[in-house]
Amino acid sequence: MLRVGVMVSGGGTNLQAILDAMEKGKLSNVEIAVVISNNPGAYALERARNHGIPAVSLSPKDFSVREAFEEALLEQVDSYHLDLIVLAGFLVKIPEKMVEKYEGRIINIHPSLIPSFCGVGYYGLKVHEAALTRGVKVTGATVHYVDSGMDTGPILLQKAVEVKEGDTPETLQKRVMEEAEWVILPEAIGWIADREAKG
Ligand code: GRF
Repeated sequence: MLRVGVMVSGGGTNLQAILDAMEKGKLSNVEIAVVISNNPGAYALERARNHGIPAVSLSPKDFSVREAFEEALLEQVDSYHLDLIVLAGFLVKIPEKMVEKYEGRIINIHPSLIPSFCGVGYYGLKVHEAALTRGVKVTGATVHYVDSGMDTGPILLQKAVEVKEGDTPETLQKRVMEEAEWVILPEAIGWIADREAKG
């Protein structure tokens, strides 16, 4: 059984896609052990609670210095003995020590076809604004392993989505989430779970 921790900052629709895939039997050998957010008001925490999953919030604002937050975050993560950490819209940079300690065991979902529209400053609607400004005809989403960079780790899965005439950043974001993110994130976790089950 793959013990998974999901780190979130917002609405949690990617978390919901994982939970739905588990419920439909499309994702097995996975247990969501904890959902952690830097934002106590994140609706993603509500989604976790609705499923009886421990929902923990830990914000840099709760600490006088960044190092204290990073230490507390790593301690919290360690306490759940996780096999995989999934960043699903987590907007806080993962501490260096945590990236090293969990190397190869942290994945992130990004709403573009990396290497396009990624890196510092590319998050949320900004990604789709940039895609529309550039005039790309195809965009999509990427699941990648997290390394010490920003959206630079090895790519695991990608799924393309057509940009339609008249798209706004909002309509494009919705299509990328529905047609790509919510498909490849559960798929990636399932792939890792199967690989772990095979030993
Ligand atoms: C998603 O668009 C994801 O690609 C990005 O942050 C957003 C999170 O949305 N990293 P949600 O909280 O899963 O609804």
